[in-house]
Amino acid sequence: MDAHLQFRERNAQAKTPCIGVCDSGVGGLSVLRSLRAQLPDAPLLYVADSGHAPYGERSNEYIIDRSRWIMDHLVAEGAVGIVIACNTATAIAVPELRSSRPGIPIVGVEPGLKPAAITTRNGRIGVMATPGTIASEKFRVLMQAQGNGVTITPRPCPGLARLIEEGDLNSSQLREAIDGHTALLRAAGVDTVVLGCTHYAFVRHHIEAAMGHGVRIIDTADAVARHAVNTLGPLLPAADATDTMRLQTTGEADRLRAIASAWLPFLCTVESISTAAETLP
Ligand code: DGL
Repeated sequence: MDAHLQFRERNAQAKTPCIGVCDSGVGGLSVLRSLRAQLPDAPLLYVADSGHAPYGERSNEYIIDRSRWIMDHLVAEGAVGIVIACNTATAIAVPELRSSRPGIPIVGVEPGLKPAAITTRNGRIGVMATPGTIASEKFRVLMQAQGNGVTITPRPCPGLARLIEEGDLNSSQLREAIDGHTALLRAAGVDTVVLGCTHYAFVRHHIEAAMGHGVRIIDTADAVARHAVNTLGPLLPAADATDTMRLQTTGEADRLRAIASAWLPFLCTVESISTAAETLP
């Protein structure tokens, strides 16, 4: 372990134990929102890697490198367990994260194909996710596990997370992108659409409108939060009510502050953090 990491490890002992939550950017706030609703007093620390978003069109090496950095940072800040609120990082980096830190429990997210297979009436399911998630081995296995009786139409949505990351959920560019990405799913006649990227939860209403009446949307944020509460909640000591909801970003704090106050129904402190110099380009 290098000196920098040892320093962080020592520091962690002095920090308030918390649950760490992270994403490439602001998408994981949709999971944080559900987690907060279920754990109103628990110390939560969210890291948005907005200085490096989006992940969905990056190499696996880049995503693993960033995810490791964030995990080390969260542990140094006192995280006793981590929610990877990012489908792309879960699909690509979680095995490496688990083996590099076996003592830290990790809860990941994945596209909700199982609930979609229960929900669908006509057997046709669409999945919207990043190119990285859809190209991953984990997604291939997840698709295979659904067996016969359902037809899955995956739709990689390059650029969509980046537009959401900009924060203007009503921009015409964003609406046009959603219209374009959902066209294939409309043509396939799907009656259920899985949101396979945590960013997309914030434009669910636009996706619903673009898909039309009767199409059901599957977002697993509440289910992931429930799983995190059961798995990580018991690791926390009795809650300390001060400064329990912190957001950090590798991007601009003002931008995250504006998004958090518009998208989240609770108050939080927001700060920017500097990123590791050794991150791959
Ligand atoms: N929110 C992320 C996900 O769930 C990643 C989006 C991105 O950075 O491309 O996949």
